[in-house]
Amino acid sequence: MTRLAPGGHADVLVIGGGVIGLAVAWRAAQRGLGDVVVVDPTPGGGAARVAAGMLAPVTELQYGEEPLLRLGMASNERYAAFAAELTEASGGQDTGYRRCGTLAVALDSDDRAELRELHAFHLRLGLDSTWLTGREARKLEPMLAPGVRGGLHVADDHQVDGRRLLTALLLAGQAAGVVVRRTEAVELLVEDGRAVGVRLGTGESVTAGRVVLAAGPESHRLPGLPDGVLPAIRPVKGQILRLRIPEAYRPFLSRNVRAVVRGQHLYLVPREDGELVIGATSEEQGYDTTVTAGGVYELLRDAHELVPGITELPLVETSAGLRPGSPDNAPLLGPTALPGLVAATGHYRNGVLLTPVTADLIAEHLATGTTPELAAPFSPTRFATKVPA
Ligand code: GLY
Repeated sequence: MTRLAPGGHADVLVIGGGVIGLAVAWRAAQRGLGDVVVVDPTPGGGAARVAAGMLAPVTELQYGEEPLLRLGMASNERYAAFAAELTEASGGQDTGYRRCGTLAVALDSDDRAELRELHAFHLRLGLDSTWLTGREARKLEPMLAPGVRGGLHVADDHQVDGRRLLTALLLAGQAAGVVVRRTEAVELLVEDGRAVGVRLGTGESVTAGRVVLAAGPESHRLPGLPDGVLPAIRPVKGQILRLRIPEAYRPFLSRNVRAVVRGQHLYLVPREDGELVIGATSEEQGYDTTVTAGGVYELLRDAHELVPGITELPLVETSAGLRPGSPDNAPLLGPTALPGLVAATGHYRNGVLLTPVTADLIAEHLATGTTPELAAPFSPTRFATKVPA
């Protein structure tokens, strides 16, 4: 039961009602950290509403990102229990979590060489990753183009449905007593060098014991945030398509399928309910979320090269979202240089994957004041240029 009155006080105030903000708020409320308030004009929105929801720390691994791999794998390992707990806490909302594995395939000899290197890197790190010939890959996924030249099978890279996840988080948060204010946070209130609350779009002020900034690519643009506390979080646009697989064509694909086509990452994520998500472009053009003919064309062209049968499927939705990219593409997790302000932002391509572990780490910090070891490489202060006055 909340004691919060409008214009009142929150013990934990979360700015941003996407997957990260909602999950942090839910965990904070579960841990009994007092009145928990989320501020967002459109809670349940954000990049996860657009995302395909691939949980792929191994197939998306980049060289030099081993700490991120550890964080991603820790989150992936928590997902089954997180999804089950969320379904129960939300009164039965399914999250679409599916343990399906991922196949990453090559369409030409250059792709094949690149995937071979990734496979060798996986083996050096002791990851579970199996090399397949083209024939073996097509045996797993008969809809793949005959020209597929081989690939990698990673049995532990799975998927979740970002939209269902958002709904479940909203419901679970509500059941745990989280208050959602459907308005903007128009200013961070800072007194004596400490974050003490926010001014809302309604004109009210809410004071807060701690403020958690989880506003994705808007995070560093919050008025009142002192210079140097957060780096610029750049918006990286992703356009994505949703197709429907008619009953008669199922199972069209049985697992996530990825490829690099003409240097662009492409993935097809088949859901249990018959939705097929095809993504995604990667465009650095500011805060624009227009779906363009060129973006849709490229996705369909490349997906058709990989799985020719997609042209038979109804195209039901096109959309675009903004990934929040930090300067090193890794998230910002934990206390900032401004006392009272905690960051949970900058998750770039991994927001849905990193939701369970982010919520646990931030709630742990809020409850105990310590920074868990897993979060240490992601301190928001790693970019600090100056300490705020
Ligand atoms: N993680 C997939 C993407 O960002 O497109």
